[in-house]
Amino acid sequence: MSHSVLVTGGAGFIGSNFVHLLMRERPDWNVVNLDSLTYAGNLENLVALENNPRYRFVHGDIRRPADVARAFDACGKGEIRVVHFAAESHVDRSIESGLPFVETNVVGTQVLLDESRARKVARFVHVSTDEVYGSLGEQGFFTEDSPIQPNSPYSASKAASDMLVRAAVHTHDFPALITRCSNNYGPYQFPEKLIPLLIANASEDKSIPVYGDGMNVRDWLYVEDHCEAILAVLERGSAGEVYNIGGHNEYPNLAIVKRVLAELGKPDSLIRYVKDRPGHDRRYAIDAGKIERDLGWRPRHTFEVALPLTVRWYQSQHAWLQRVRNGAYREYYARQYGS
Ligand code: NAD
Ligand code: TYD
Repeated sequence: MSHSVLVTGGAGFIGSNFVHLLMRERPDWNVVNLDSLTYAGNLENLVALENNPRYRFVHGDIRRPADVARAFDACGKGEIRVVHFAAESHVDRSIESGLPFVETNVVGTQVLLDESRARKVARFVHVSTDEVYGSLGEQGFFTEDSPIQPNSPYSASKAASDMLVRAAVHTHDFPALITRCSNNYGPYQFPEKLIPLLIANASEDKSIPVYGDGMNVRDWLYVEDHCEAILAVLERGSAGEVYNIGGHNEYPNLAIVKRVLAELGKPDSLIRYVKDRPGHDRRYAIDAGKIERDLGWRPRHTFEVALPLTVRWYQSQHAWLQRVRNGAYREYYARQYGS
């Protein structure tokens, strides 16, 4: 019998990388991508799969049960697993306006859980973030047992969605697993996030806004490593468990900025210190010991290799970046699928 994976948010950054990974690595699985195409959804990321009979795109919103039902119908009769990426994902936007984050990340997740339970899915992987643990001081790492102490409307909405998934496991014996990953970088990331914004601005000799003193620390993981970790959790994780995912790859923002500028051959004088983000978490760092021990996952890419690879990718995809920056990517859906 056929085997399908329903991916939500597959037109976004990590989701599109994950869809490509599944199509490449699991040649007998079907993939259905449910995405509402917010500003962060870009079907151009998946153009290579358009005529592949194992791939289906469903334009729909996780907040709407009828849309989710349509996506499940597209999966066909066999066993169905769900990997849930769809979210409002940008901290700065959540500071401007928290409501869309509650609507998609909290309400949308509950709608998806209800429909998934009704369809008796075999597994449900909820893709969450280390930001639910809040902020660290100079020392220590987040483990799966760290207290949940979100500080931004984004991380609070993700924490709420994690709690709903946890409740479904405990109340309904629902076969869900939660992953909490650190900051990703790599191809197809929307250029509002630090690394692609930095590459895009510096390439045009525009200034690089660095928040505060630039000494906030993030633990950076190449997106392909994150996707491989999610696949390991999907296939071999224990239902009900939480898995932290990270790269042991901590850098202050300023170090990232200087490194990318050097990679592009651009001067540090492009750096512009700007007002700090309100409530800015100081440091994130992940202890990924559990997923290493239990599932044998480790990141395959070092920063030394994958950061230059990422810079080269954005340079080679200049047209993609231009269309994202000038909004032309949003016309793609209408052209390809009709409005
Ligand atoms: P993204 O913003 O690039 O993509 C989100 C996708 O979800 C977009 O394609 C968007 O159109 C879609 N979407 C949004 N609202 C929707 C709705 N109501 N219905 C259907 N689709 C909707 O996000 P990303 O960076 O790829 O992150 C994916 C997931 O991974 C998120 O859940 C995020 O919290 C989590 N995460 C991200 C990072 C990171 O560094 N980017 C790290 C850890 C965890
Ligand atoms: P971001 O990519 O928004 O991820 P997150 O806030 O989820 O960690 O930001 C990464 C870090 O870079 C964070 O400490 C904020 C900082 N930052 C800047 O200094 N300037 C920028 O223009 C952006 C977008 C982020």
